[in-house]
Amino acid sequence: MKNKNQKTGISRRNFIKGFGGGIVGTAAVTSSFAKGVGSQAGPHGSTVHGPGKVKISMQVNGKNHSLEVEPRTSLLDAMRDQLGYTGTKRVCNRGECGACTVIMNGKTVLSCSIFAMDADGAKIETVEGLAKDEKLHPLQEAFVKHDALQCGFCTSGFLMSSVALLRKNPSPSRDEIRHGVSGTLCRCGTYPNIFAAVDDAAKTMKRGG
Ligand code: FES
Ligand code: FES
Repeated sequence: MKNKNQKTGISRRNFIKGFGGGIVGTAAVTSSFAKGVGSQAGPHGSTVHGPGKVKISMQVNGKNHSLEVEPRTSLLDAMRDQLGYTGTKRVCNRGECGACTVIMNGKTVLSCSIFAMDADGAKIETVEGLAKDEKLHPLQEAFVKHDALQCGFCTSGFLMSSVALLRKNPSPSRDEIRHGVSGTLCRCGTYPNIFAAVDDAAKTMKRGG
């Protein structure tokens, strides 16, 4: 018998693959390499961007994108609203909950708290890039197996911080897992299941799964 989510076409398995629903200022002074329309020389070799849009490019999950953003646009908003990567969630939108965690140039970042302009030329990894050829990443499989999500708003953040953790430390202890994902909060309180899932996935990946 189909459950409620399956009837609407949104299965737990699809959700975890990234199938989700879904700084302020008029100008910015940076030393970044963003170019644009709205950029001009500023003091001391800096560049003033805005208030017009600035052309940037970035690679997301191996795919190149060019876009124009206002200088105040966060990486999160650019990815979700302009590029359609809605698997990364906007929850607190002020750097406190970790739900918007993505991997940028190999390191985890809170995408709500950095300018899209500062991701110009960057390589970004999001939850949508984890499954390959319809096969879930071992961490995604383990989250399903251990029932490590309820509402799911924190899930992509936990998955991306866990991916980064296991790249650095393929055999983490339970304390190292807790510490490794500690920047992400789960209001539904699924922490024991999340820690068990990461532990299980680490073992599967070590076996080559
Ligand atoms: S949405 Fe970015 S830290 Fe909460
Ligand atoms: S599953 Fe709801 S916030 Fe974590």
